Amino acid sequence: MKKIKTCIFPVAGLGSRFLPATKSIPKEMLVVVDKPLIQYAVEEAKAAGIERFIFVTSQGKSAIEDHFDSSPVLEETLRKRGKNVEVERLEALRLDPGQAIYIRQQAPLGLGHAVLCAQHLVNEDAFALILADDLVLAETPCLQQMIQEYNPQDGNMVGVMEVPMEQTNRYGILDVFQNKGEKVLARNVVEKPSLEKSPSNIAIIGRYILNQSIFGYLKNQTPGAGGEIQLTDAIQAMIKEVPLCGYRYKGQRFDCGTKEGWLEANLAFAFEQPDLRINLQKNLQKYFSFSENKKEGKQKECA
Ligand code: UTP
Repeated sequence: MKKIKTCIFPVAGLGSRFLPATKSIPKEMLVVVDKPLIQYAVEEAKAAGIERFIFVTSQGKSAIEDHFDSSPVLEETLRKRGKNVEVERLEALRLDPGQAIYIRQQAPLGLGHAVLCAQHLVNEDAFALILADDLVLAETPCLQQMIQEYNPQDGNMVGVMEVPMEQTNRYGILDVFQNKGEKVLARNVVEKPSLEKSPSNIAIIGRYILNQSIFGYLKNQTPGAGGEIQLTDAIQAMIKEVPLCGYRYKGQRFDCGTKEGWLEANLAFAFEQPDLRINLQKNLQKYFSFSENKKEGKQKECA
């Protein structure tokens, strides 16, 4: 089987759920502990063997390009000051010349449209797609798990997890006909169904391996949920020709496009770092009892 070498990162969304933080900072540059979301995404793709990184950007997102570029003045200054560890960290995040490609989506017409913008840059039979605001904490990075298990008969493969039924209206949901082990097979997929109309609670997260023929379907796609060109609708439109397989990844996913998810991700990733863990645990207990006291009307200092 041919290796999957290309990954698309759509980063042209408005990030309106995180305003005002995302007014002039791209959502994908929000930091979790010490790295922006887009860096986690690129590191995950690198670990999975990706060699071409296509970013679909928009106006106001140039911080993403700068982040993966070299910064000679900063690096030189750090070197002169003997801050070699910091220099190494900067060097490690740089992408090799020619590896990163930036193209623009000129209007936020939806995720499906953002993917279509990259059509002319994808030559392989299958390519990967990562939504950086879905952050996954996993022993083996999520995309790597999927690429290891993927074979061309799977058609389109999506990372899936089970969600509470009352949350199905936030996700693309699979209607499955085979639900055994890590791979589930779907006969249909629907974008953001209501609780009553949801065929299951198996939801798509922001990890995909897509068959290149999806571009043809995206081209003919009319606006769907939210008035946007939906990727899910194209996956559904092609399901008779290209099967849809859900992959139950191992790991914990955080929706960093929401405040709750982003805060939780910060806690989970900080707890992974021994130097942060102990103080964080103490401080959380302190803030928790402070807020309990406040609720009970006790005027205790948070010190
Ligand atoms: P979201 O559904 O999270 O939308 O997009 P959003 O615009 O980023 O955020 P909200 O809903 O306004 O808060 C999922 C992914 O698709 C990209 C986003 O950048 C994000 O990575 N996207 C979405 C685009 O690239 N273009 C679009 O037109 C829409």
